[in-house]
This record gives sequence, structure tokens and C-alpha cells, in this order.
Amino acid sequence: MSALFTPFNLKDVSLRNRIAIPPMCQYNAVDGLITDWHRVHLAGLARGGAGLVIVEATAVSPEGRITPGCTGLWNDQQAQAFAPIVASIRAAGAVPGIQLAHAGRKASSNRPWEGGDHIAAGDPRGWRTIAPSSIAFGDHLPRVPAAMTLQDIVRVREDFVAAAKRAQAAGFEWLELHFAHGYLGQSFFSAHSNQRNDAYGGSLDNRSRFLLETLAAVRDVWPEHLPLTARFGVIEYDGRDEETLAESIELAKNFKRAGLDMLSVSVGFSTPAAQIPWAPAFLVPVAERIRREAQLPVASAWGIDTPELANRCVENGQLDLVMVGRAHLADPHWAYSAARKLGIDRASWTLPAPYAHWLESYAVTE
Ligand SMILES: Cc1cc2nc3c(=O)[nH]c(=O)nc-3n(C[C@H](O)[C@H](O)[C@H](O)COP(=O)(O)O)c2cc1C
Repeated sequence: MSALFTPFNLKDVSLRNRIAIPPMCQYNAVDGLITDWHRVHLAGLARGGAGLVIVEATAVSPEGRITPGCTGLWNDQQAQAFAPIVASIRAAGAVPGIQLAHAGRKASSNRPWEGGDHIAAGDPRGWRTIAPSSIAFGDHLPRVPAAMTLQDIVRVREDFVAAAKRAQAAGFEWLELHFAHGYLGQSFFSAHSNQRNDAYGGSLDNRSRFLLETLAAVRDVWPEHLPLTARFGVIEYDGRDEETLAESIELAKNFKRAGLDMLSVSVGFSTPAAQIPWAPAFLVPVAERIRREAQLPVASAWGIDTPELANRCVENGQLDLVMVGRAHLADPHWAYSAARKLGIDRASWTLPAPYAHWLESYAVTE
């Protein structure tokens, strides 16, 4: 059995293999409410054989959406709409997860295929953005956010808590907090975006405070027997990488103390000046270091798109879970294809019976 196809257990949840589909925004919701697009998209992905399907960055409040098309969990109607999707992901043999998010200073943007830049000032489709400090991201995202008051901080934390309860009510079994990619959580941690001089800015402890308080508040309401994870950008590629990594390892240890079960290791994306060394699996050695030094299970993504590469990451003890994103958009049955390439006996077990039955023998296609 290849390492990629061994089960993975976290808390009371068991994944059939180490392949996870990371959250991928579809920008196709209406007022935060999912549409037929999400129903087909997510059920189709779950059928492909991955162990875990994480629903896209889902905003905890309307202001926390990246774009007007982002999904939300700020009302019960949105939670109810997710319930049948959760059921179809589970029926296909995958574990249903969701990522909760607040986009901070990167909110109020156009969809990527409409430019991905901020919605122009005065355009009624846009909204007021908030962040730790009144610092815009850069030329592409120039809207200057309002610096959050202490009341704002409490309100957003409570929004995360309320959304977590709705995620549970909808039946999700795996909850990921989006603290990465320059969105609100990451922007508290990064000095690129946080210049506060109160208890939420300055020292490492202060820049960690919003993330740790939010995590602890969510842990209090999210069932103890279900996994609670976070996605966090541990490195910025901004020339200060050793310092950032050392701080990130401290944060990861504190996450663990606050009840985090796994870290999804990603990039900070806090500055447009970052020089990211794009290459297949470039982040894996970084994730491995976090795993070793923080003693936390880790997942990671970015260019791990061949079965052999994905398998090696698990076999070598670098990752516990491999997030395969865009390759799943190209081939929703990526896990099945991977099982075949890796020579897994009865690769068709990764698919539901109406497909698997006809693929038990490869004779049809070979
Ligand atoms: C269409 C699309 C939407 C994405 N949306 C999210 C998101 O909602 N949350 C998140 O943490 N990352 C998001 N990402 C990043 C992916 O989760 C993943 O990290 C990235 O695609 C790299 O993995 P890959 O090389 O396997 O595609 C998105 C990526 C894509 C392509």
C-alpha cells in the first residue's frame, strides 16, 4: 500500500487516504448563499476519491467576504443550504470540512476573472473594509481599511464563534480557520499590516493575540471530538524569512496549546513585494520543519500535483495530508487516477459504486 493511500485519523474522524482538497473559492454565491454551482462542484469533487473536501473560504460576516460572490455563514439560511452538500460529500466517502474566513483589508474585491482588484470607491457593490491598522495592501488592492477598534476585535471573534456553531449545525466534521494569505488573521500577525501600539500589535505575543483568542473561542464551541485546524502563512519570502519562521513556530506551539489539531502550512501573502520561489512542492520542506519543531500534524499545498510527488511527501514523513487543489479542478477524479498510477490494487475503491463497478477491470480502457 502506498503511503498516500493509508488512512489518517484525527480526533474521532477517519480519512480514507491522505489526499485532501483544499478550500478553493468559486466566487459564485449570492449574498453569501451557495448556488447550484457549489452543489455540483463539491459533490463531484467528493466522488473523486479524496479523503477530505474542505469548502472554500466562507465569510463569517458580509464585510469578511473577499468578493461579492463569496460564500458566508453569517445566517442560518446559509447553514441550512450547506446541509445537503455536507450529506453528499459524506455519502461519497469523504469527510466534509469548511474553512471560515474574514478577508480583512483584501475584502471588497472583484472576482479574479474580473481583475481581482478592489471594487472602485463609490461603486455600490463594494463595502467598508477593516484591518488591524489603516494600511492598504498595495497598488492592486489600494483601498485603505479602517483600523479595528477593540469592539471590532470582539465582534469579529464572536462572528467566528457563531459561524463555527452554524458549521456544526450544517454537519461539517472538520473546521479550518483561515489565518493565512494576508487576510484578517494573517494581517494581525504580520508587521507589514499590523502597526498597532495596543495589546494586539508590536511584540510576538501581541501580534498572536487575535489569532489565539479567536482559536480558543472557537475551540470552546466546536466539539472536542472533531478536528479544528488553521491555515496559516508561516513564511512571507520578504527577506526576513528566518525571523518569520521562528515566530511562526512559536505561534504553532501556542496554537497547539490552545487546542489546534493540525496546521495547514501556507504562505503569508502579506506584501506585494514578496519573492515567492514558485516550483513544484516548494513549501514542503518548510511544512516539514513546522511539523518537526512544533510537533503538530501538518497539511500543505502548492504544486503537489503528481501522485508520485504526493506519495513521497507522506512516505518521507514531511506531510500528514497532501492538499491537491488545481489538479482537482482539471481532474475531479485525481485520487482515482493517482491510485491507478501508484499501482493500488482495486484503485476503483476510491469511486462510488455506479462508477467503480464499471472500472473494476481496466480492460475497458486499456
Ligand atoms: C480557484 C482557487 C481558489 C482558492 N481559494 C482558496 C480559499 O478559499 N482558501 C484558501 O486557503 N486557499 C485558496 N486557494 C489556494 C488553494 O487552496 C491552494 O493552496 C493552491 O491552489 C495551491 O495548491 P495547488 O498547487 O494544489 O493548486 C485557492 C486556489 C484556487 C486555484
